[in-house]
Amino acid sequence: MKVKASLCVFASLFLTFSGAELAGNWPPLDQPPPPVAKWTALVDQAKVPNAPLVKTVGQCADKDTFCNWSCTGCTRPDSDVTKCPEKTDWGLTFDDGPTEFTNTLLDFLETKNAKVTFFVIGSRVVENPEILQKAVNAGHQIAIHTWSHPALTTQSNEQIIAELKWTEAAIKAAVGITPKYMRPPFGDYDDRVRGIATQLGYKIVIWDEDTNDWMSADDKTFQLTWIEGNFTQWVKQPSTTGHISLEHDLYKQTAERAQLAVPIVQGAGFTIKPVAVCTNEQPYLENISLTGSAAGPAAGKAGKAPAAAPAAGKAAGKAPAAAPPAAAPAAYPSPAADPAYPPPASAPTSAYPYLVGDAQSSPSATPATTNGASLNTISLWSFVSLIVGSFMFI
Ligand SMILES: *[C@@H]1O[C@H](CO)[C@@H](O)[C@H](O)[C@H]1NC(C)=O
Ligand SMILES: *[C@@H]1O[C@H](CO)[C@@H](O)[C@H](O)[C@H]1NC(C)=O
Ligand SMILES: *[C@@H]1O[C@H](CO)[C@@H](O)[C@H](O)[C@H]1NC(C)=O
Ligand SMILES: [Zn+2]
Repeated sequence: MKVKASLCVFASLFLTFSGAELAGNWPPLDQPPPPVAKWTALVDQAKVPNAPLVKTVGQCADKDTFCNWSCTGCTRPDSDVTKCPEKTDWGLTFDDGPTEFTNTLLDFLETKNAKVTFFVIGSRVVENPEILQKAVNAGHQIAIHTWSHPALTTQSNEQIIAELKWTEAAIKAAVGITPKYMRPPFGDYDDRVRGIATQLGYKIVIWDEDTNDWMSADDKTFQLTWIEGNFTQWVKQPSTTGHISLEHDLYKQTAERAQLAVPIVQGAGFTIKPVAVCTNEQPYLENISLTGSAAGPAAGKAGKAPAAAPAAGKAAGKAPAAAPPAAAPAAYPSPAADPAYPPPASAPTSAYPYLVGDAQSSPSATPATTNGASLNTISLWSFVSLIVGSFMFI
């Protein structure tokens, strides 16, 4: 009994441990992160199309000068991915995680041998690095979906760069990979956003089938059965190409409901693939494949190794500065210290009823803790004292 009890203590402590935040000093969760001069300098501003910053989200210009997808569906083939080219391929995509609900979804996808794409929020990567690692190890594709989920056409060039690069840095620090795909929140992008994303080396992934599952968060008239109802219709449509569908692992009900779509899509003869697999492109800057024999294990190994650094830092209870995330600036610059930091653009406030169907990112319920390392030190102490304590009882 005593042994069992201490095992339980051990197990629960281990769980607390594995739920730790990403080490390092990160900008607050769900808030626009500060521009960083060296990232801003990566983009030649002279080459970025000069589309006006949008003041009122939802108002489309009379003439679509800047190829605004959410207004007109305009895309640029060189930079935009809208569907899987092969008729029998289906790119299932999930936005706004990683969250606690991603876990169950990952377990389910494993049983169906389905590999999908997750467009993740940088600040949630900081909250849930282990869940992201689990997705990487399973062979899913990870892509960027900004830090704080703003409508990008309302953001300055510097802010757009910060949203993307902070997220990239968090992903690199958490799982050791650098995504080459991004998705603009709400599908809100034009040639200015496109120009910046392209110069930073990203392709933009949009979708051709939208579940609108995010509406279930606050619209009581939204019926969850519509999600599988839509999939049932989509798989029957005649089409010369495959598809990319949009769902969200942000909410419990949408992450759960997503399980019903998988057998519908597979049952209709489609192969569910990460988007970069259906487009036959590299998912990451690093030489990591999502296909073939090397895919699963290789991706797992490659992702795991770099993540070991912060983990080792935690286990050793090192001082906060000991294990700065590899790709992030050593110190998180305060806005005042960075001359490039512009005054924040008017943040979008209300809901986005016009939107083509991306969820509005709600601020996290948990207060933002940016110093993961001090938390980890505390966990270590409680860990050591409880282990010592349980030994004394044996
Ligand atoms: C692009 O579309 C969004 C969404 O409809 C809209 O709010 C924005 O004003 C548009 N941008 C331009 C430059 O037209
Ligand atoms: C598909 O979803 C829409 C809402 O996004 C809903 O109005 C429609 O009824 C759904 N179709 C089916 C067959 O469930
Ligand atoms: C990438 O990995 C593959 C398979 O492991 C290997 O054959 C290839 O040489 C690697 N390429 C580079 C540039 O490292
Ligand atoms: Zn989103």
